[in-house]
Amino acid sequence: MSKKRKIYVVAASAIIAAPILLASPASAAANANGILSKIERQLSVNQILKDIERLSMDESGQNKDNARVTGFEGEHEAAKYIQSEFNKLGMNGELSTIEGIDGFIDDGATLTVGGEKIEVKTMTFSQATNGPLEGELVYAGVGTEEECKKANVDGKIVLIQRGEIPFAQKAKNAYANGAKGVIIYNNTSGMLGGTLGSLEDSKGPTVGMSLEDGTKLVERIQDVETLNISMEVKTLVKPDSYSYNVIGEIPAHKNTKNPQTIVLGAHFDSVSCPGANDNASGTATILEVARLLSKPEVKNKLQYNVRFVAFGAEEIGLIGSDQYVAQLVESGESKNIVGMINLDMVGVGDQVVTYNLNDKADHKITDIAEDNIKELGYKYGGHFNSGSSDHAPFEAAGIPAVFIQFDKDPYYHTDEDTIDKIDPQNIKETATLVLNMLMDMNDTKQEKQKHKPLKGKIEFENQQMPRK
Ligand code: BES
Ligand code: ZN
Repeated sequence: MSKKRKIYVVAASAIIAAPILLASPASAAANANGILSKIERQLSVNQILKDIERLSMDESGQNKDNARVTGFEGEHEAAKYIQSEFNKLGMNGELSTIEGIDGFIDDGATLTVGGEKIEVKTMTFSQATNGPLEGELVYAGVGTEEECKKANVDGKIVLIQRGEIPFAQKAKNAYANGAKGVIIYNNTSGMLGGTLGSLEDSKGPTVGMSLEDGTKLVERIQDVETLNISMEVKTLVKPDSYSYNVIGEIPAHKNTKNPQTIVLGAHFDSVSCPGANDNASGTATILEVARLLSKPEVKNKLQYNVRFVAFGAEEIGLIGSDQYVAQLVESGESKNIVGMINLDMVGVGDQVVTYNLNDKADHKITDIAEDNIKELGYKYGGHFNSGSSDHAPFEAAGIPAVFIQFDKDPYYHTDEDTIDKIDPQNIKETATLVLNMLMDMNDTKQEKQKHKPLKGKIEFENQQMPRK
């Protein structure tokens, strides 16, 4: 695939003028439409849990290993389920195809040195080995071209330290000089996981290792004449696959003049795990909010179009939301988007947190979230910067957004991300918060002011799935 994870660089001149939204928090009782408390009473946490189960378990009640991995069957099937749920509500659920997706499943990696096992983690888009790969281990510094040449890596497995150049470049340098396996060990404490960027950039089996284990191995290489190791990498790939964004909308009441649109989003794809919290939780929550808002007594009072977008291909670099925002910008529709609320990992943890891409981004929707979090009396963990979810492309295009999450999930991106970890109270709080935010905005007169162009550039590079 050629599509790489984006580093968002948006020049000030390219920022689309979006309308401003001025909202002050309205308590449930003061809600002008008087519908909030009614909808809140109809909220079904059980329905949300059922959908999380539907998305993360198979028919026999077993957790799915590769529940909705980007580009694979499980993800496509989930997209169709979400579409059918939208359709049940009278929305015209749309499947918008995302092309050129490399599907990648990490099926486990092992490494042994003289019978002793050392923990390693497959780099995303690594090639697989053909069974266990045996060979001499050599050390090649940070893996520059020169270092790989000097280390005589031909026919050997190469140990390289993290730093200075991207992982993919280190691996390329080693493979160009005849290496048959690559281990990259961390330069800060702990395990190293990361991505090579794409299948195209992947030249051979490549795994990450902790700084602690890597340092010990370097010493062992120096201590003996030859150090032989065995390494095995198992993967499942699906090159040039595809994914979907699933889109549904409840239109504003027909008497609303030139209604603006609020986007409620959540990614539905997963990494190679059940993905109950990341992010069946957010997906199931937006489905339930859609059910509640589509009841006639609510629908008839909507002053905004509420658009629900379940994003695909988030886990491999926000590809779905990136494409979706590009389409909004191209059609000129982005000007009409008043804000975006992104739910990602809302089921595990003991405090709600909010994120924006960075300090330069517009925090209007975040302010509405914070006001309502306080008013509802939730435990608030605070506001942070992050570019690791689907709010990022919106904010980079100048659309105000907020990413809402519960903190902290110890099972993130592991096989333990299963439905039994989901706290129904978190689900209830998230859905209630979103309803309060939406009704708050609905109560506020639309201000047709242009919003200030951003100063300078918005840039971000994801920190959590490093390439370097
Ligand atoms: N839900 C996570 C992001 C996340 C996890 C944010 C924990 C804050 C705390 C998301 O699905 C994810 O894993 N994103 C990727 C980044 C993406 C750009 C590939 C990540 O963080 O590695
Ligand atoms: Zn996520």
